[in-house]
Amino acid sequence: MQPCITREEVDVNLLDIVHRQYNPEPWSEGEKIPWNDPGFSERMLKQHLDQEHDAASRRFETIDRHVDWIHKTVLKTKPVKVLDLGCGPGLYARRLAGLGHECVGIDFSPASIAYAKEDADANKFSCTYFHQDIRAADYGTGYGLAMLIFGEFNVFSAYDAKKILGKAHHALNNGGLLLLEPHTFEYVRQIGEGPSGWYSSDGGLFSERPHLCLMESFWDNESSVAIERYFIVDAATGGVTRHSSSMQAYTDEGYRELLAECGFVDVLFYDSLGGSEGKALADLFAIVARKQ
Ligand SMILES: C[S@@+](CC[C@H](N)C(=O)[O-])C[C@H]1O[C@@H](n2cnc3c(N)ncnc32)[C@H](O)[C@@H]1O
Repeated sequence: MQPCITREEVDVNLLDIVHRQYNPEPWSEGEKIPWNDPGFSERMLKQHLDQEHDAASRRFETIDRHVDWIHKTVLKTKPVKVLDLGCGPGLYARRLAGLGHECVGIDFSPASIAYAKEDADANKFSCTYFHQDIRAADYGTGYGLAMLIFGEFNVFSAYDAKKILGKAHHALNNGGLLLLEPHTFEYVRQIGEGPSGWYSSDGGLFSERPHLCLMESFWDNESSVAIERYFIVDAATGGVTRHSSSMQAYTDEGYRELLAECGFVDVLFYDSLGGSEGKALADLFAIVARKQ
């Protein structure tokens, strides 16, 4: 299957910023930050691997703790085939493979998938990686666990989230487990109601050239969606690139209904992926459900 890559950035100018629509429609200006852009994904890969912070991926000691919990508490140490959706550079998959699981990771970040493949080859991990969009990819079948972690679930529209859950359901064996790590409703609302802000950078995630990043957020009460906009202003040319990201908020009941609709039962909520998290990560929690 061909990767389905969407363009998430739009070139605008300074006047377009002045005349922008004040309340954007959820998902209308782009869906998420451009994980799949080659340059962005190279810069993001450095953030995934950085041990000074927990952005993009958590620090290795936290991931070790999570994987221990997944292996012992969720999988009861029984080796299974694991599907890691939005696997990034394979930091969870490589550890699960080290504990005897056979892993398949899918991600549309070219740099992350290249890193994950190289790591698996060099260390002979039982991990297979695919550079694809999880909304379109063929997941295969025969899995004992399908996971989508670190809040990415909320950055899909409800339509896409349902599609991904349906595909995961199909890919799992009967009795197979789904592990989600979504955001709380309150956290998503806080993102949407957050203040506008900006920063300057000589080169960073959104551009390797000197630039300003102007950020604003909105909360769409009717659909419970937070929308974030980023205008990247190139310092040399004044050219502007716009990125936008929307996040769907769900109540606990909303998660339960969605999972039931997609054929999952025995839904359990956990405070985290195991162990206590720092305050910055307290907005995430874990859900384990079983394919009926
Ligand atoms: C917050 S990162 C988490 C990475 C990894 N799960 C971890 O915790 O280390 C989210 C990941 O989801 C991937 N992603 C987002 N949307 C995707 C899509 N539609 N298809 C495939 N991957 C996607 C991004 O490229 C990124 O690697």
